[in-house]
Amino acid sequence: MNNPDSLLNQLVSDIKKKKELTTLKDAFVLERLRLLLTKNFKLNKKLGQLNPKSADYKKTVKLIRDDLRKSYGLFRIAAVDSLMSLVDKLSNPPQQEIIEKILKQHSSTKERQPYYSLLYPQLFAITGNPGTILDLGCGLNPFSIPFMKLKQLIYYAYDLSRPEIKAINQFFQIINLRGKAQLGDFTTVRSLPSVDIAFLFKMTDLLDQGRGHKKTEEILKRLTAKYVVISFATLTMSSQPMNAPRRRWVEWLCNRLNYSFSVIEIPTEIFYVIQKN
Ligand SMILES: C[S@@+](CC[C@H](N)C(=O)[O-])C[C@H]1O[C@@H](n2cnc3c(N)ncnc32)[C@H](O)[C@@H]1O
Repeated sequence: MNNPDSLLNQLVSDIKKKKELTTLKDAFVLERLRLLLTKNFKLNKKLGQLNPKSADYKKTVKLIRDDLRKSYGLFRIAAVDSLMSLVDKLSNPPQQEIIEKILKQHSSTKERQPYYSLLYPQLFAITGNPGTILDLGCGLNPFSIPFMKLKQLIYYAYDLSRPEIKAINQFFQIINLRGKAQLGDFTTVRSLPSVDIAFLFKMTDLLDQGRGHKKTEEILKRLTAKYVVISFATLTMSSQPMNAPRRRWVEWLCNRLNYSFSVIEIPTEIFYVIQKN
């Protein structure tokens, strides 16, 4: 019989042996593992007998790795220049060609990068110029701050990627911006800062995991923000524009919660700008 805690720690360390998962926080991997075990009663029951050579142990490692790849690993693009080496070359004001190279290292910002200068003026025409922004599951989106053309801004960001969070904090220092990027699962943070605008760009599928929209609703209600911006990709897997890019469930949800919303579209993405009353 194994000690369950030491077995869980061993599982976490084995799960993280995959290259793209090594930089994840142990606590996050452990939480996903616990979640899997609560849902998989049979596996949970066998936990005491698992040994690292058994088929069930290997199956558990594989299941969690697949889960983590979906929420974390799929988005990073291997690049010729490392993220940090690019950030190290930045000065204030930041050079546009370096910012563009950085934005291309994450699939979401790579796709959005040609349209930032269309997106932010349209967004701020609705919300007014924000003094504070909270970017949840930020990826490399904070590197788009120069496109916002704001004089005063405090920026808070959360993501699971250690190297990206480090790079973002260094970037904030270089451009003298007040703000903080934090490593961790934002859904477990008790008190998120109160802000003018909160971004949930391309996050709801990851939050809801195909099981309704309860998690998105819970976060939307919990956020202390004047506006929450939720976005969705509007290209199909084969990069063709979707026939029906609108997400009616967001519209129904806003109506039910009595929040008003506006829609902004760029060729690759749709943004719901939700005003919390
Ligand atoms: C589809 S990408 C979107 C990135 C960014 N919002 C954008 O659109 O440019 C999802 C991002 O959320 C991060 N992520 C997923 N689950 C998270 C969680 N629970 N807490 C913090 N970050 C999370 C991933 O690491 C990844 O960078």
